[in-house]
Amino acid sequence: MSVQYKFPEGFWWGSATSATQIEGAANEGGKGRNIWDEWYEQESNRFFEGVGPQTTSDFYHRYKEDVQLMKQIGHNTFRLSISWSRLIPGGRGEVNQEAVTFYNNVIDELIANDIEPFVNLYHFDMPLELQNEGGWESRDVVEAYAEYAKHAFRLFGDRVSKWFTFNEPIVPVEGGYLYDFHYPNVVDAKRAAQVAYHTMVAHAKAVEAFRTFDIKEGKIGIILNLTPSYPRSQNPADLRASRIADLFFNRSFLDPSVLGEYPQELIDILEEHGQLPVTEPGDKQLIKNNTVDLLGVNYYQPRRVKAKETLPNPYGPFMPEWFFDHYEMPGRKMNKYRGWEIYEKGIYDIMMNLKENYGNIESFISENGMGVQDEERFIENGQIQDDYRIEFIKGHLEWLHKAIEEGANTKGYHLWSFMDNWSWMNAYKNRYGFFSVDIETKERTPKKSAEWIKQVAENNGF
Ligand code: BG6
Repeated sequence: MSVQYKFPEGFWWGSATSATQIEGAANEGGKGRNIWDEWYEQESNRFFEGVGPQTTSDFYHRYKEDVQLMKQIGHNTFRLSISWSRLIPGGRGEVNQEAVTFYNNVIDELIANDIEPFVNLYHFDMPLELQNEGGWESRDVVEAYAEYAKHAFRLFGDRVSKWFTFNEPIVPVEGGYLYDFHYPNVVDAKRAAQVAYHTMVAHAKAVEAFRTFDIKEGKIGIILNLTPSYPRSQNPADLRASRIADLFFNRSFLDPSVLGEYPQELIDILEEHGQLPVTEPGDKQLIKNNTVDLLGVNYYQPRRVKAKETLPNPYGPFMPEWFFDHYEMPGRKMNKYRGWEIYEKGIYDIMMNLKENYGNIESFISENGMGVQDEERFIENGQIQDDYRIEFIKGHLEWLHKAIEEGANTKGYHLWSFMDNWSWMNAYKNRYGFFSVDIETKERTPKKSAEWIKQVAENNGF
């Protein structure tokens, strides 16, 4: 087979998941409750088809089978997250030995099958008790997170070398404190800024702690959903709108985690509008000293931005949208099954930006993928013929390949996701997996893309 797009030797081929979305066993194995268990109990009607976090693909009991499937499709790496409320029910205090056994088993099984585990510590799943203390608004919760991180490094750091503090830390800020799609459903920009800031401090404390452990070839990173911001035109008002959207949604985490400081323009905007969070002496130095070794980039879609056409209501609450409007670029390509724009070149633009402005930090695509509603309609001969997903991945890999050729320090590609999973409020609405999962029987079936990625991994390209 001739390979047109060959990737560097040792390229990481794999997929990403998160604990709450795949484990199931929400009330088993000594797990404590987290905000998803609570919110579902309070408002199950807000979840797609009323399906909650108890209904998953049951990785907790089926991880051995899943690791075999990963192996069959050529994965050399796999991302999972640890559930904080499983490892430390209640968020602080005693470690749950059943959880230690479970994660030990998963990690050992992966390694025995030559699949390197990438372990993330937090994927939207705050232990309920800590949320009741104020969640990320509380400085005490920052300390509890740092303790949790230390436990994880101590327990699993002898075998896991790639660690991540947070997945998409801006999503709980947006969902929980600005736009009402995550618990605790607050809409208040100042509180959102505090949550974002404390998450960053918690991240830096975990990085600092990580470096006190002697982890062989250990690397610590953060996983950010970067949505490159494209202005409608080159006129100054559109350019400014786009730059400010970039500050709020990308650079608010990218700059402090990779460069060690917040962009001055973002600080100025928040200060001018009375939205600055409360800080403590020493935080600035802590963030400065604890930049990441490795950056995971989740890329799904770009952000198209234009200057505001109407003035914000001066009496309305402060929102990032005071500074820009979104717009739909005419002729854009769409994933019509999810309603998101597809713009493959975005992946290249992100990587070039990292190369030019972020010291060419070592990075990888930690999530990219195509969600499809009602995917069963594409079943032929018992298999989902997801040619659209293969095209989607190819298109992105071509641009990633170009970025690498031009010197980007990019080491791998993980699809979201290994198998169809429960996705927060969207539950099982959008399917992303290489494997489909029958939610009743839990049976996994490879989609066409699973067979295709096996070839790609074997050839280290396509
Ligand atoms: C990613 C998240 O941004 O989007 C995942 O990290 C999530 O946790 C995925 O499942 C897909 O989201 P959705 O809403 O399309 O199901």
